[in-house]
Amino acid sequence: MAAAALARFTEQLDLLVRARYPLVYVVTHEEGRLERLLRELARRQGKPFYTWTATGGLASGAVSEAAGTPRFAPPAEILERIRIQEGGGIFLLRDLHAHFDDPLVIRRLRDLVAALADTHRTVIVSAPRLALPAELEKDVTVVDLPLPEPDELRDALRALLVELGAGKPEAVQISRDDIELFVRAAQGLTLAEAESAFARAAVTGGALRSEDVALVIEEKRQAIRKSGILEFHPAQAELADVGGLLRLKDWLRRRGKALDGGAREFGLPMPKGVLLLGAPGCGKSLSAKVVANTWRLPLLHLDLGRIFSGLLGSSEENMRRALRIAEGVAPAVLWIDEIEKGLAGGGGRSGENDGGTAQRVFGSLLTWMSEQQAGVFVVATANRIDSLPPELLRRGRFDEVFFVDLPDPFAREEIFRIHLRRRGREPEAFDLEALVEKCAGFSGAEIEHCVLEGLFAAFDEGRELSIEDLVRAAAETTPLSVTCAEELERMRTWATTRARAADAPRRGPGNPAGSVPPARPRSTPPRGPRSSRV
Ligand SMILES: Nc1ncnc2c1ncn2[C@@H]1O[C@H](COP(=O)(O)OP(=O)(O)OP(=O)(O)O)[C@@H](O)[C@H]1O
Ligand SMILES: [Mg+2]
Repeated sequence: MAAAALARFTEQLDLLVRARYPLVYVVTHEEGRLERLLRELARRQGKPFYTWTATGGLASGAVSEAAGTPRFAPPAEILERIRIQEGGGIFLLRDLHAHFDDPLVIRRLRDLVAALADTHRTVIVSAPRLALPAELEKDVTVVDLPLPEPDELRDALRALLVELGAGKPEAVQISRDDIELFVRAAQGLTLAEAESAFARAAVTGGALRSEDVALVIEEKRQAIRKSGILEFHPAQAELADVGGLLRLKDWLRRRGKALDGGAREFGLPMPKGVLLLGAPGCGKSLSAKVVANTWRLPLLHLDLGRIFSGLLGSSEENMRRALRIAEGVAPAVLWIDEIEKGLAGGGGRSGENDGGTAQRVFGSLLTWMSEQQAGVFVVATANRIDSLPPELLRRGRFDEVFFVDLPDPFAREEIFRIHLRRRGREPEAFDLEALVEKCAGFSGAEIEHCVLEGLFAAFDEGRELSIEDLVRAAAETTPLSVTCAEELERMRTWATTRARAADAPRRGPGNPAGSVPPARPRSTPPRGPRSSRV
């Protein structure tokens, strides 16, 4: 779980310093928090601790002044100072990456690496993003400072409450459960962001109340959005809003139970993720949203297009950042829509055009998926099978791969009901059985479209919606399954051996064989049971 991430980070850093790694690069926005951790580490190891910034110079001046280096010497000189200095020490150089365009800085760093290898001096560069020149790639060890854990956020909130309570005891009437709500809401923020979100929540209305959690969540939505790659979605649909997909829903219900700590004690692993493949408009994206809401977890949408857009920095760095945020927010659902597009790097089919960047970034995503223990559940969707690499489907990557087919008559009826109800109509008022027959081959999205078209027609003529409006709308809709029949059939065949059917066949008057509607024009008679329905 996330609680271990900070411990792992400190342990790793401790080890690097003890093992005399000369140069460590820590990626973080939280310099202050890193500095506190490093001071503590230096104290444990009995080493002096020094910091440097371009504006503040080398603090803890004794070193530089005694050795004759002015406090505000250029970075290259500071590096030289560290190289020739006697004794041990930990040097935190903030934002040194901003000086990597200076050849002297690079050369001095390389000299430093060679010189420091058998000393007890370690240089730590902190920067908000990873920006390593090729010259340094082999010399630097990179670590990410994880976002604050619940314990740190709880301490920050308690400190604020103590401060508030000193003047106004009535301002801190807050239950233990509410504190946990606030802590959960702030997961994914940096410590400074969380502190200011808590403080903002406390000043509105003069007290910290459970309703103010919404403010913290909003703050988080903004903070995550600023990352440019992830989008934080508010809770939306529920399981009842998805028609059909019985097996998928049942699976999600069961896996949801396994999120609890009790499941770990029982010997079950943390659920990792699910891949949904299949026909367009049949509820893959909808299901991703539903998972998060049903499990009461935050939903993070990872936009692969933006990762590769080049507008936000290197794709590798973007992916790294996104995954770190997801771990910070965990437990959470990470929704990766149209994952096959990521493979193509947003451009060429397999990334040949971009020097293999897409493959590298994708590889890092897959490795992370196999290894992460933070409690991030990945819901990935894919529309096309051609570009899906076998390693994505390998056992152990996703807990399950589901094939989402066109809805059968039962599912179609459910989907009509869902969308009629959503638009304030009683489904019982409509004879849906006949209508459902006329919509063979329709996707969920097309059924929703029929309901909307019917409503537009009725509204235009100033009367209430009738079944005829829906029938007409259905007759005027050419489902995608007609135009893409071949593609869909190919996907079905492909999925037979590689995926589980997301829906379960149901028998009944409308579907005597318990079969799936064919991906063919409606005039073609239905065929036997689909083999993809395992
Ligand atoms: N099974 C369903 N139950 C209820 N509504 C559905 C269902 N399938 C699709 N819809 C409706 O159609 C809309 C579009 O579906 P969704 O975005 O989930 O499709 P998708 O499978 O992700 O398609 P694509 O492959 O094109 O991304 C949904 O928001 C929902 O309103
Ligand atoms: Mg989708």
